[in-house]
Amino acid sequence: MTVNEFNERLDNYGKIVNDALLKYIPSNDVRQKQVFEAMRYSVMAGGKRIRPVLVLEFCRVCGGDIENALPFACAIEFVHTYSLIHDDLPCMDNAELRRGKPSCHIKFGEATALLAGDALLSLAFETALCNNNIDKIGYYNVIRATGELAKASGAEGMVGGQVIDLDSVGKQIDLDTLEDMHKKKTGAMIIAAAKMGCMVAGADGQKINAAGEYAKRIGLAFQIVDDLLDTQGDTSTLGKPTGSDDVNNKNTYVSLLGIQKSKEMVEKLTDEAIDFLKVFDDNTFLAMLAEKLAKRDR
Ligand code: IPE
Ligand code: IPE
Ligand code: MG
Ligand code: MG
Ligand code: MG
Repeated sequence: MTVNEFNERLDNYGKIVNDALLKYIPSNDVRQKQVFEAMRYSVMAGGKRIRPVLVLEFCRVCGGDIENALPFACAIEFVHTYSLIHDDLPCMDNAELRRGKPSCHIKFGEATALLAGDALLSLAFETALCNNNIDKIGYYNVIRATGELAKASGAEGMVGGQVIDLDSVGKQIDLDTLEDMHKKKTGAMIIAAAKMGCMVAGADGQKINAAGEYAKRIGLAFQIVDDLLDTQGDTSTLGKPTGSDDVNNKNTYVSLLGIQKSKEMVEKLTDEAIDFLKVFDDNTFLAMLAEKLAKRDR
């Protein structure tokens, strides 16, 4: 696969996902229209759509129809967007910029931002469970994929990681705790995305496990790169504030290990991730995606 072909597929997935996301957020011609506006604002503000891309591509490499995976790709992006809205609130990271625009609470106020996040979480499960392709996907596969999302987003996963993140502010934590925090707050959702794609395609356990192992490594690397970009990135490219981890006294890979070691870890994790792709035919896109994410600047 050439770089052009890779970029074409990535762009194409992005377009399909953006169209579907918009379709799933209901019309706002109602009394509570501000919450729909806030949901649409944050979801459609941009975003790399990495988790949806993983859902679609893992479904494809497992022989599934990406049409069937689309509601699940949107579901995980809804959960992810909710996590970003809440992450930016003054009670958490207090960030005023997200996806290149004023954060949801800056634009709509804290109460609406909180509720838009809540509503996106519910919409995610509605999208996964009330879609038109359930007969084609099979009930068992739908339940498994949706259960994966529930587990990854809750207190054992993303929410749990956010709790450790906030609980660690101003304290010196050890590397084990930091790794656990990153694996939960960011890794869990990336693992879920990969596994959900396989599950929608009805893949076997060997493939689901391999997808999970690949995603575990790119997920941890993803948050390490996020930490690096917070210190070394550019706000206008990133679309979110830089230097915020330092201001908020966060524990990050950069604060604990330094820039060089953090970069080495990203490379090591990326190589290890790619090794787990052997069980999939036609795995070049996923290998190139891992490489691209390791080198991203946004
Ligand atoms: C940002 O996620 C928060 C983390 C979990 C590191 P992304 O970097 O995927 O953010 P968007 O979706 O592209 O805005
Ligand atoms: C947040 O990590 C991960 C989430 C679960 C939202 P960060 O707080 O580092 O994410 P950014 O840098 O604000 O996107
Ligand atoms: Mg945070
Ligand atoms: Mg943050
Ligand atoms: Mg960050």
